Amino acid sequence: MSLDLKLDGRSEDRFGTMAQGLLGTPADRPEGVLKVTGAATYAAENLPENCAFGMLVRAPGQGKVTAVNADEVRAMPGVLAVIRDERMIRNAAQGTANEAPVQGVDHAEYVGQPVAVVVAESFEQARHAAQSLKITTEGSPGPVDPDAVEPEGEPTRTGDLDSAMKDAVHALDLTYTTPSHSSTPMEPHAAIAEWDGDRVSVRASLQMLKYNRNELADCLGISAENVRIQSPFVGGGFGSKLGITAEAVSAAIAARELGRPVRVVQHRRQAFETVTRRSETTQRIRLAADAEGRLSGLGHEALVSNLPGETFAEPVTQASAFAYAGAHRVIGERLARLHRPAAGSVRAPGEAVGVTAFECAMDELAVKTGLDPVELRRRNIPDKDPSSGKPFSSHMLAAALDDGAGRFGWSDRAPEPRSRREGEWWIGSGMAAAFRVNIMMEAEARIDLTPDGAVVETDMTDLGTGTYAILTQIAGEALGLPAESVTVRLGDTDFPPGSGSGGSWGSATTGNAVWLAALDLRRQIAARLDCDEAELTLRDGQATCGNVTRALAEVLGGDDLRGHGHITAGDAFEDVVQSTFGAHFAEVAVSDVTGEVRVRRMLGSFAAGRILNEKTARSQCHGGMTWGIGMALTEELTHDRRDGHMVNRDLAEYHVAVNADVPPLEVHFLEELDPWSGPMQSKGLGELGICGAGAAVLNAVYHACGVRIRDMPATPDKVLAGLE
Ligand code: MOS
Repeated sequence: MSLDLKLDGRSEDRFGTMAQGLLGTPADRPEGVLKVTGAATYAAENLPENCAFGMLVRAPGQGKVTAVNADEVRAMPGVLAVIRDERMIRNAAQGTANEAPVQGVDHAEYVGQPVAVVVAESFEQARHAAQSLKITTEGSPGPVDPDAVEPEGEPTRTGDLDSAMKDAVHALDLTYTTPSHSSTPMEPHAAIAEWDGDRVSVRASLQMLKYNRNELADCLGISAENVRIQSPFVGGGFGSKLGITAEAVSAAIAARELGRPVRVVQHRRQAFETVTRRSETTQRIRLAADAEGRLSGLGHEALVSNLPGETFAEPVTQASAFAYAGAHRVIGERLARLHRPAAGSVRAPGEAVGVTAFECAMDELAVKTGLDPVELRRRNIPDKDPSSGKPFSSHMLAAALDDGAGRFGWSDRAPEPRSRREGEWWIGSGMAAAFRVNIMMEAEARIDLTPDGAVVETDMTDLGTGTYAILTQIAGEALGLPAESVTVRLGDTDFPPGSGSGGSWGSATTGNAVWLAALDLRRQIAARLDCDEAELTLRDGQATCGNVTRALAEVLGGDDLRGHGHITAGDAFEDVVQSTFGAHFAEVAVSDVTGEVRVRRMLGSFAAGRILNEKTARSQCHGGMTWGIGMALTEELTHDRRDGHMVNRDLAEYHVAVNADVPPLEVHFLEELDPWSGPMQSKGLGELGICGAGAAVLNAVYHACGVRIRDMPATPDKVLAGLE
């Protein structure tokens, strides 16, 4: 049996008919104790017997690759193999592609591309041997600088923006730039591969197992049935583990060749270069407004880059298509083919940088029109999607603006910049709107119900986002079981295929599959009680129908029941535009002496449909806002202009915002149910908190000291130059 649902329209809200009271509570993570005591083992742990150790070797330049002294290295102590295999992948895959990732070790397309794996008896021997392997490259290198190439692609044009700009009372034509960003998480990329005949099992750290299984099978030239991937715990992904990665492929190749298990772990600098980065962007933003600040037109054109052959282009303008009204529009990306390390999805691909730049431009328009920034945005909220004419499934921007402004105390703000000074510090505040598209994927899940409780299984992953907690709550709510009676098993391709974790879709997609699996079980329980499923009340292990109450264990009567759920997106994601909304408010202090920016407080109000777990949801928003602070002030991946390689490829030199940079963050959720988003009426939240967050900070910098930074991040040198 299975309950299959294709979302073609609105879903009925069944939540009110459930009685357990578990969903929506700030429940703890069931795996929390395992994690803080070290009992949750990650991909590099649990070494099998007789495991050998592999170390990747990267190309020092572009061109045809030769391993000059491979035989010499093979003779080094403990070395088992030096493998250069055309099946090794050139870049991390994107995780949802149907085609195999680009492969090959003979030609390096960028500095840092993995071109060999050295395997030895010990990790130390492997590392030493890998460092001893001399790789040379020859041939003329491809371009690494965006100015050196003619980009591909054209923006979408609606109406006549040039005329609208000429006719406008207020017109702005601004350019913002953002640097490359790294997706490298705390847990290094690691894999242990082991073959049993023709079947390979890989313990890895990946986000999207059902796709990763196919990708690995394609790389190895075997069928997906012969690939098992396990990723029960993942120490962060941020996009870097969406697709199959070099360590997993090379571990599988080496394990086959040596006939024993092989572990490959990428060290930090390798990971920086071999996982996908967020493209740098150059964004031209045009705003044409009347005397009242109403937009007659807007332009958002972005230049991004990627390697030749890669299909991904940072979707910078994704939210600009629907964010604000304005009849005359020019929106889209152009892609420069550069030989920098591959670009791919990084936390909120598109909106993270696109909304941030656009919301800075909106602040500049507010100054130009003399309008309050909150009011300017309110005036430009469209009543339907201005690009497609489709209705919105729900629209919560006005509510988020009002809620956030009220809680932050926005009305106390003096409109003029440089209004407040404390010693050497200029104090100011800024705001920005947040938008992030809501994406639904496909997912399956199953639940086994026994007298001991429920066991939920899906190959879904938990990147630290709270998947274990949320799926426990969903199953417990619908089946009337306390959290202790629900076990969630994740991260194994032997389980039904979930959605994987990416694009904020995890809880809404796989969560709905679990919900459907539970409804499937409810049907079966109701049938045993001879009642209608809608009349059934399940609570604390008791089933009630009419005036009859029986223990669930008694209803099972010695049988175990299995429920299966399957959800797919349908017309509900075509006929209407689905987005989440929010508003960020920040207060900063800017040193008039050093140009240093300190964020003093920050507040966000967010709407994402039903909030399934307020604690994990809040953590996601804290994380997003923290990334926003980093994007605004410190995060910058620097490419060497000569060969494109990443100069600051570690977490010491690539500065993400840390505790010392982040003030207490206030997060508020708006009550919302979105019937178009699925049976749980819940939308993806994970990435909303980052979208626009950096703009609130940068707009606050302007309000504090009158310096407008359009080249992110706003490091002290740039701020100081503005102050002088
Ligand atoms: Mo996310 S960047 O889709 O992991």
